[in-house]
Amino acid sequence: MSTSNNQSYGNHSARGVSTVVPPENGGFPNPGLPPHEHRQADVSRRAEKRAERMVAGMFLLSILGVIAFIAAYFLVSPTETNIFAEQGTPSAVWWSNLIIGLSLAVAIFFIGAAAVHWAKTLMPDEEMVEERHDIRSDDDTREVAVGIIKDGLEESGIARRPLIVTTMVAALAALPVAVLAPLSTFGPLPGNKFHHTFWGYGRQDGQPIRLTRDHDGTPILASDVAMNSIFHVMPEGLTEETPHWLEERAKAATVIVRIDPALGKNEESLANGYEGILAFSKICTHVGCPVALYEQQTHHMLCPCHQSTFDVTDGAKVIFGPAHRPLPQLPIEVDSEGYLVATGDFPEPIGPSFWDIHKDK
Ligand code: FES
Repeated sequence: MSTSNNQSYGNHSARGVSTVVPPENGGFPNPGLPPHEHRQADVSRRAEKRAERMVAGMFLLSILGVIAFIAAYFLVSPTETNIFAEQGTPSAVWWSNLIIGLSLAVAIFFIGAAAVHWAKTLMPDEEMVEERHDIRSDDDTREVAVGIIKDGLEESGIARRPLIVTTMVAALAALPVAVLAPLSTFGPLPGNKFHHTFWGYGRQDGQPIRLTRDHDGTPILASDVAMNSIFHVMPEGLTEETPHWLEERAKAATVIVRIDPALGKNEESLANGYEGILAFSKICTHVGCPVALYEQQTHHMLCPCHQSTFDVTDGAKVIFGPAHRPLPQLPIEVDSEGYLVATGDFPEPIGPSFWDIHKDK
């Protein structure tokens, strides 16, 4: 005999607790379970087959939903004239959203409906009593449990219902296609765009590119760069006519500073500069903020976003903050007229690191 949580035996009761008083002769008769009613599919072969066809039909409807979703995604465009509305009208967007949403809803709904119908009409329908035991069963019981699971699989009839299993697998496999299909419209892969900047591919016939002042585009004489000064520079020839002008500017942004070569701790870095004039990418290697603050006394460059600090005297190595890579250095020299020029691109991608950053190395 059992009672619910808000019932108790005896004559005492607490507030909010209903009391069930057993008769004097002790206890309640066991009410037992109502007689088991067999489902139609359990007693009729025809009903079983009909239920099986219904489950398979619902999985097929789910597949049709996926196909309709993909077709609608490509055929009922919200931005162009589609079979329901003219380009640029709110109706075009409305129809596109409606059909895409409905078809995806159908695909998902019928997978769920098929699973529920299968369970309610065809899966084993038995009432069982389960005794409570310690959490871990002894080995014999576990063995029995494994046997029961195997029997359950056997009884569920999965092996005997290849139609349902096949359509279910097909429906479950088709559903992710609806998610993947839109990926094809995300545009082309970036290729090696992250690996190079205008300093490299902007060169005409391999000629070095002059460094120009960012604000007015004038070239910079080495003699103009005073000790401990900082210049924000762009490559000559990068103009508004350049394709993807703003993106190119964002990648090519560079700063030059002049230090006393005697202070330099990094021979390679000094060799890539000109008489202490060193050029570094302005894009922070943490998450890409512009590193535009220069401390003349310490020769540190500071990123204002998260305070990454780069030591200019040591190849712009990170000495503080969350950045992990030095700022890439642009190799420079002077041309015959004394102007600063870049002799090549940055040796590695500028800005934050990414998965295949050293692919070209
Ligand atoms: S972006 Fe520079 S430190 Fe975070």
